[in-house]
Amino acid sequence: MRSLEFRTTLPLLFLFFVGVAGGSGGQWVVLQRSIGVSAMHMQLLHNDRVVVFDRTDFGRSNLSLPSGGGCRRDPHDRALRLDCTAHSAEYEVATNSFRPLTISTDTWCSSGTIAPDGSLVQTGGFNDGERAVRTFRPCLNRTCDWVEVSQALAVRRWYATNHIVPDGRAIIVGGRRQFSYEFYPKTHPSDMTAVVLPFLRETRDAAENNLYPFVHLNLDGHLFIFANNRAILLDYTKNSVVRTYPTMPGGHPRNYPSSGSSVLLPLEPSPKEAEVLICGGAPAESYARSVLKQKPFLRALDTCGRLKITDAAPSWTMETMPVPRVMGDMVLLPTGEVLTINGAKSGTAGWELAGEPALTPVLYRPGSPPGTRFNPQSPSTTPRLYHSAAVLLRDGRVLVGGGNPHISYDFYGVEFPTELSLEAFSPPYLSAENLASRPRVMVPVSSSPIKLSYGERFILRFTVAASLRRVRVTMVAPAFATHSFSMSQRLLVLETKVEKTEGGAWHAVAVAPASGVVAPSGYYMVYVVNGEVPSEGVWCHIHSDGADAA
Ligand SMILES: *[C@@H]1O[C@H](CO)[C@@H](O)[C@H](O)[C@H]1NC(C)=O
Ligand SMILES: *[C@@H]1O[C@H](CO)[C@@H](O)[C@H](O)[C@H]1NC(C)=O
Repeated sequence: MRSLEFRTTLPLLFLFFVGVAGGSGGQWVVLQRSIGVSAMHMQLLHNDRVVVFDRTDFGRSNLSLPSGGGCRRDPHDRALRLDCTAHSAEYEVATNSFRPLTISTDTWCSSGTIAPDGSLVQTGGFNDGERAVRTFRPCLNRTCDWVEVSQALAVRRWYATNHIVPDGRAIIVGGRRQFSYEFYPKTHPSDMTAVVLPFLRETRDAAENNLYPFVHLNLDGHLFIFANNRAILLDYTKNSVVRTYPTMPGGHPRNYPSSGSSVLLPLEPSPKEAEVLICGGAPAESYARSVLKQKPFLRALDTCGRLKITDAAPSWTMETMPVPRVMGDMVLLPTGEVLTINGAKSGTAGWELAGEPALTPVLYRPGSPPGTRFNPQSPSTTPRLYHSAAVLLRDGRVLVGGGNPHISYDFYGVEFPTELSLEAFSPPYLSAENLASRPRVMVPVSSSPIKLSYGERFILRFTVAASLRRVRVTMVAPAFATHSFSMSQRLLVLETKVEKTEGGAWHAVAVAPASGVVAPSGYYMVYVVNGEVPSEGVWCHIHSDGADAA
């Protein structure tokens, strides 16, 4: 009944909006003026809630702790020893509402990833949080909260990068003055092994910075790790560097504090090739200059490097972005496009170290001919520089939050006041003129989330008002976003066939990824993409036979 109504009213809407909405540049909407916490870290969960958190050592936030929640007492806190404000919140997409969460160890510049059962496993930070592991298990009744274990890591991990590995554990790579990696969960709580990785020592700069390395899981199960201006392929099971990649042309550093960003480009069905894209950053001298407050800040890098990491002898292909950008967030969209959003046009990451907000998001189409891949979008009106984040939502919008270049929350008399707001950026595929092309996937509530086994063929039933174009099913892992890098971000294009069925609906017949190396077990958002227009996503859980979804 609903889909019938939908189809009869659509042509009118369609006519009305043609030429009005434009749609080519996307749209910005402010969702919340303030959630009371600045979104330094963000993670979407498989119940469409987003866990947001900041740090605990800057004083009061603008959000009170849940009633009945105990205040945080920390004799070593730099700012406030008794703190009754919240430094984390849960944002609920469907109702556009939020609630405070209780975090009590310091999450400053920490990291995380989603475990196969859908829990957020989040590690490290500063001070009393530097060896902490915090777990957030999603719930629907708005009562769940963080569970923290304070001495769970082998060494302190501050500015580390996490990535899920095929056996379901998280690997935690590097961190400030940590030239090693470790795993969580541990085989035994007493296992305090950290495996030395000299590459991280070799690539650090004069200020000992070499932080939040870009880590991607390759098709052979090894990890691509990029730090400073070069990369290796690590067989973490043997602690052996199986490949050293060429230095990126230009030689500029690309990770923190020269924070560019990076994605593993969409993987084709039964992938034989994997490609990494790294964009923006800051010249090597930029950090040292910025720290000395030498103005103007140096211009950010405007180049991207693209590398086929599966090639026997790969070389970087360089491209130029329409705007220079440091601290941009790269977000994989359901269509396989890459959105770069947030950041600055000059300076580096760090407190008060950047200027000229990069307000214009840029869409990148990996498959378009070189020279035509970048498409600037409608600018935002809210600067989001250091400590901002962006995550894809299941409905195809991108949730954008944070931005606080100050040591504490600072709202008055500063150039870039602390941002407590949340905004949504709707890419052009959500414009009114694309509404008729948008597939509507019908999944019975009883089979949501869809349970998938590796290599399994499955059917998504959908309708679409306009005509069908090339249809693909894509699968996107919800990523952990902080400091311009989205950890465990991954998009798979699935082998797809379309069949017409009775009643005007279609079946997209897709084949789930073959193994946990291509798609580690866990929750993904599955989309039917019609040409360049994706449906709303549907949650699925992929696992080996016998493993159960939580
Ligand atoms: C946060 O709280 C401070 C007072 O503690 C207030 O001055 C400021 O306007 C608040 N900011 C927002 C965005 O709510
Ligand atoms: C809320 O849901 C969780 C499971 O998601 C359950 O363990 C817990 O007991 C529930 N709490 C209340 C108050 O209903």
